[in-house]
Amino acid sequence: MSDFQLGEEFALAMDEGDALRKFRERFLFPKTANGNDCVYLCGHSLGLQPTAAAAYVEEELSDWARLAVEAHFRAKHPWMPYHRLLTEQTSELVGAQPVEVVVMNSLTVNLHLMMVSFYRPTRARHKIVVERGAFPSDQYAVKSQILFHGFDPATSLIELTPRAGESCIRQEDIEELIDRNADEMALILLGGVNYATGQAFDMERITQAGRKRGCVVGFDLAHAAGNLQLKLHEWGPDFAVWCSYKYLNGGPGCTAGCFVHERHAQAWDRPRFAGWWGHDERTRFEMPPDFRPMPGAEGWQLSNPPIVSLAALRASMQIFHEAGMPRLRTKSILLTSYLEFLLKDIRSNNFSIVTPAAPERRGAQLSIRIPHNGRLLCERLTRDGIIGDWREPDTFRVAPTPLYNSYHDVFQFVGKFRSALENPL
Ligand SMILES: Cc1ncc(COP(=O)(O)O)c(C=O)c1O
Repeated sequence: MSDFQLGEEFALAMDEGDALRKFRERFLFPKTANGNDCVYLCGHSLGLQPTAAAAYVEEELSDWARLAVEAHFRAKHPWMPYHRLLTEQTSELVGAQPVEVVVMNSLTVNLHLMMVSFYRPTRARHKIVVERGAFPSDQYAVKSQILFHGFDPATSLIELTPRAGESCIRQEDIEELIDRNADEMALILLGGVNYATGQAFDMERITQAGRKRGCVVGFDLAHAAGNLQLKLHEWGPDFAVWCSYKYLNGGPGCTAGCFVHERHAQAWDRPRFAGWWGHDERTRFEMPPDFRPMPGAEGWQLSNPPIVSLAALRASMQIFHEAGMPRLRTKSILLTSYLEFLLKDIRSNNFSIVTPAAPERRGAQLSIRIPHNGRLLCERLTRDGIIGDWREPDTFRVAPTPLYNSYHDVFQFVGKFRSALENPL
């Protein structure tokens, strides 16, 4: 990795030798005013549309037009078991057994469903460990669950924070906090990758530390699914949830994912919020009054799934399947390290990289802190066809994603970023 070079020829040569380069053509890029592709570095927020998504969606619209209700059984891909078309590829993506995953609802809904089942506080054990810098929806969900159970977030919420003067949380501090609260913790809920800093957590070690102390462990993988190589079954958290509109390119508001470890696959006695689509499919249409869940993650489904949304997601999951996470992750490490290498060549005290430097402690994203006029700079880059995103108060997030970004994208971004820093408005 230290062999990176500063010139444009290097970027072009890297693209030339990139075995994943062909996947770029399978995505639609937003255009600049003069019709060129934008440099799109925002896959951590909303992934690009696969070129095939429209055909996948059109197929379902056409079956709906042609067959209406009969499409549940007679569509080319019958709607009744349609969600299963995603099971194999989803399990492959997150390193799970098929029985452990399901695509349903949205992320925050799934998080609540998981906490209903896996956050079972008692007077002795009622605390939830989260990052202080967790995505607000997670904070709201967790606090509302604590209140729902009659506890007080002031005493039941433990927030992990970076040390003074640092931006990211140290692994040893997580483990120390778990040790210190061992007897009172009911749930550890962390992001796989923090949305603001881009820090990736050591999910395997956190799971081990939590489970050793009898604590439930769950992850929000919104920024990790399709970004990191995940081994959920092996690592052994109790549950995980993720959305599919970021790195997974499922489209805005696309149906989310949920993992429930196999050891809970037959946990019939565990409380859960139930809906008919989670009921045993063999008797679902006999409409029995009593709920009997499907084994595994499917037993947490509530409603029949949104077929059009799942259709768009299938287009992207097919591409992930062909590219494979191991190859994507290898390229991603190189691409983000190259971005870091170019950024470090810029002499300016108006920016610093917040994301950890070690590749295993981050995914594709780098969070760049820009203390002065960062928002304006970001807006100027957008006008110039460079798309990242701004998070208040001072962070510019960019993520070269290995499926559709090139080394030349990174090169172009850094060139424009450098000139915006050197020539402030
Ligand atoms: C880390 C994280 N958690 C949760 C959410 C909320 O997702 P949703 O609106 O799909 O529930 C997001 C959305 O961006 C997120 O980044």
